[in-house]
Amino acid sequence: MKNRRAIFLFTGLLVSIFSARVVADETVDELIRDMIHIEQNEQAHQAAIVQGEERGILCFSCHGRDGNSKRDYIPNLASQNAAYLFTQFEHFANGIRKDYVMSKLAKQLTDKERVAIALYFADKEVKPRQQPVAPSDQGKQLYDSMCFACHGQSAHGSREYPRIAGQPYEYLETTLLNFLSKNPERAQSPMVAVVQNLTEQQLKDVASYVAHMP
Ligand code: HEC
Ligand code: HEC
Repeated sequence: MKNRRAIFLFTGLLVSIFSARVVADETVDELIRDMIHIEQNEQAHQAAIVQGEERGILCFSCHGRDGNSKRDYIPNLASQNAAYLFTQFEHFANGIRKDYVMSKLAKQLTDKERVAIALYFADKEVKPRQQPVAPSDQGKQLYDSMCFACHGQSAHGSREYPRIAGQPYEYLETTLLNFLSKNPERAQSPMVAVVQNLTEQQLKDVASYVAHMP
């Protein structure tokens, strides 16, 4: 009986995801709600992870099979919150965020593939990596006074905010300096307002602290 109910639930979830492409006004919020339902159903979650691994092949050469990026200018996707990953694909696809490769790739994935790939990478662990700079005390002070409110005490993020702990230093530095200079590739990010009164040095310090957070 219990089993049947699980299968019923599972099928219902799959149907809602499969039909996402067909329903024209299916919003990103609805897709994220569907994704959270899948995450809460063990069987559906496992099935999505398997599918995400198949579809994610396109991503592994840069972001790593286990979501730990292969180059310091590329972000880890491992342990990133799934809703954030999904929203960022959406931003690359609709031009809110721009990157030469990512903007092209994001347009080629269906909604269902984006959901599965986001769940796949969210399920992976971040590995410690060699960072080119030492952690900075000033960076810690800034983090604890300003960043923790959204990204959390340990920088693991939440459903609303991205995880930033353990990202490659180079990615963090470039990204934060882009927010400061209002680089058009990411000028619509709420982070532009957050960093506007900080200096380049403060951003480098906080990047070095966050890069070393486990
Ligand atoms: C050729 C290398 C390359 C490939 C292949 C690639 N990416 Fe990326 N990806 C990048 C780079 C570089 C960035 C950072 C862009 C920026 O600075 O905004 C990025 C950023 C992202 C982000 C935003 C992460 C964050 O922390 O904000 C997501 C999500 C993402 N990629 C998902 C994918 C997925 C899913 C695939 C496979 C379908 C993929 N990428 C394939 C290079 C790549
Ligand atoms: C008011 C909430 C808030 C505060 C405070 C905040 N952030 Fe953010 N941060 C966000 C949000 C929301 C995003 C996702 C933005 C997007 O979609 O571009 C983000 C994204 C980022 C990113 C990019 C993540 C990625 O994977 O590309 C970095 C790096 C970052 N924040 C660092 C910091 C640092 C360092 C501080 C403290 C100086 C800080 N944030 C303070 C809300 C906040």
